[in-house]
Amino acid sequence: MLDWEQMMEVTALVQGTRSLIERELAKAEVTVKGAADYVTNVDFAVQDYLKTELRKRFPQISMIAEEKDGQEQKKSSRYWILDPIDGTTNLIHHYQLSAVSLALYEEGTVTFGVVYNPFTEETFWAGTGCGAYLNDMPVSVSSDVALPDALVSFGSNPYDKGQAHRLFALFEKIFLKTADFRRTGSAALDICYVACGRQDAFLEWNLKPWDYAAAAVILKEAGGVITDWSHNEPEWIKNSSILAAAPGVYDELQKMIETE
Ligand code: IPD
Ligand code: CA
Repeated sequence: MLDWEQMMEVTALVQGTRSLIERELAKAEVTVKGAADYVTNVDFAVQDYLKTELRKRFPQISMIAEEKDGQEQKKSSRYWILDPIDGTTNLIHHYQLSAVSLALYEEGTVTFGVVYNPFTEETFWAGTGCGAYLNDMPVSVSSDVALPDALVSFGSNPYDKGQAHRLFALFEKIFLKTADFRRTGSAALDICYVACGRQDAFLEWNLKPWDYAAAAVILKEAGGVITDWSHNEPEWIKNSSILAAAPGVYDELQKMIETE
């Protein structure tokens, strides 16, 4: 486990990507990775910077990260899980809803997470047993929310549209039982928004660990529940379909997913 001082140091390092992001954004170089799947010079620059800086400070901790850079991504019992930019499509569209997302995995689970939106200067962070914070303020999930009043966000699984028919049928079923739906374009921010009560639940099929690992720590510390769609702890190496929710609405949503 990182101690308090180390958590502050890593959080400051992640916040330190702001000027780099501003500088790289001006160049706007976009590469297509796959159908509707993009990477930019910003993603690569943030990943390189954090990889180098974290290695200097914590040489014994390896890293898995979204943007493959030709170097082997070694997994050990302790490693960082990094998405240099979660919400790359938003970044390309100047949507202002993207985040740097960094988690620490150790002893079979994630114990520290920071999710930083450089456009709003909001930093969500948490360490196991230390609480969850938005900048300096403690956050918690919405209390006693009932399903008909719930604001739910969903991810559209944009890189595999073959699932759209099935998934949108499920979303329709949930939409009809809740107050309204949102789609932000960043799974990491969506889960943090559940953690601080802006939203009551979030779901998306087949996410990558770097999309949810950091936010999972933040949500759990904020009193929320995060599982895969079979009610198990999410995977931290492989993909998982994610349900993240305030406890008041988790069970009913999980049932709707199971009987999809
Ligand atoms: C994506 C975002 C998006 C979600 C996709 C993710 P990326 O991450 O979190 O909201 O719908 O499934 O892959 O590609 O921008 O890092
Ligand atoms: Ca990304």
